[in-house]
Amino acid sequence: MRIDVLTTFPEMFAAEPPAALGVSIPARARAAGIVEVVATDIRAYAENKHAKTDDRPFGGGPGMVMMCQPIWDAVRGVEASDPRPAHRVLLTPQGRPLTQAMVERLAGLPRLLVLAGHYEGIDERVIEALAPEEISIGDYVLSGGELAAMVLIDAVVRLLPGALGDQESALAESFSTVAGAGDSPHARLLDCPHFTRPRVWQGREAPEILVSGDHAKVARWRLEQRLARTRDRRPDLLPNDPQPDPQPDPQANPAEPACQPPGRVDSPGTGS
Ligand code: ADE
Repeated sequence: MRIDVLTTFPEMFAAEPPAALGVSIPARARAAGIVEVVATDIRAYAENKHAKTDDRPFGGGPGMVMMCQPIWDAVRGVEASDPRPAHRVLLTPQGRPLTQAMVERLAGLPRLLVLAGHYEGIDERVIEALAPEEISIGDYVLSGGELAAMVLIDAVVRLLPGALGDQESALAESFSTVAGAGDSPHARLLDCPHFTRPRVWQGREAPEILVSGDHAKVARWRLEQRLARTRDRRPDLLPNDPQPDPQPDPQANPAEPACQPPGRVDSPGTGS
């Protein structure tokens, strides 16, 4: 998989010296060639004298707005640098909340183009023209989309085949589906508690059943724990919760293919 990130802070995505995506699983996946993360500075595409990427908002008010031209040209230029079609993603608090189901869908694509905005926002016209999938990582506001992009990339990369030492460990954790329960978001449960040596720590004993050697009993206990935790902490994830899923994933079965061909002109006349 190739992941392009468009940002005014490309150094945040470097593998060396290690930043968030230069350690642990993402670093190993990058070194093994499972994923290529290419960060591009939007500033390099700015056509003005001072390589400005933002300007004051029409109508006044605080903050700056990222301009259309550098973003449009950066997206088009980066997309043309590789023949694989790129699925465009914009990280924004206005996007749909990220779920594990969305992460799984994105992990199945050959290429992502992740746009991380900064400042007060991005000129709406370039968002309309690029038509990215808009994703939020939660109902809070970060200083920019870069940290949100890293969250998304980390969640995607660890699902790529070969990224985890033991593929099973990805299947048995929070928000993974329960075998036989289908792929409904309601079939997703929180993880069970985990324990390791010593058996007794500060007077607290690890559950007896986990050292019983009875694998069937351990599996049943873990499922029970997952159900109990989910019922207690996130009842909204359970099938019988009266609240409907507030955010179904409309891209799960898109009417149109999610990928856009490289070099596509979405709005004739607005390209450079
Ligand atoms: N940019 C700023 N805040 C964000 C959020 N919560 N999710 C995604 N992108 C963001």
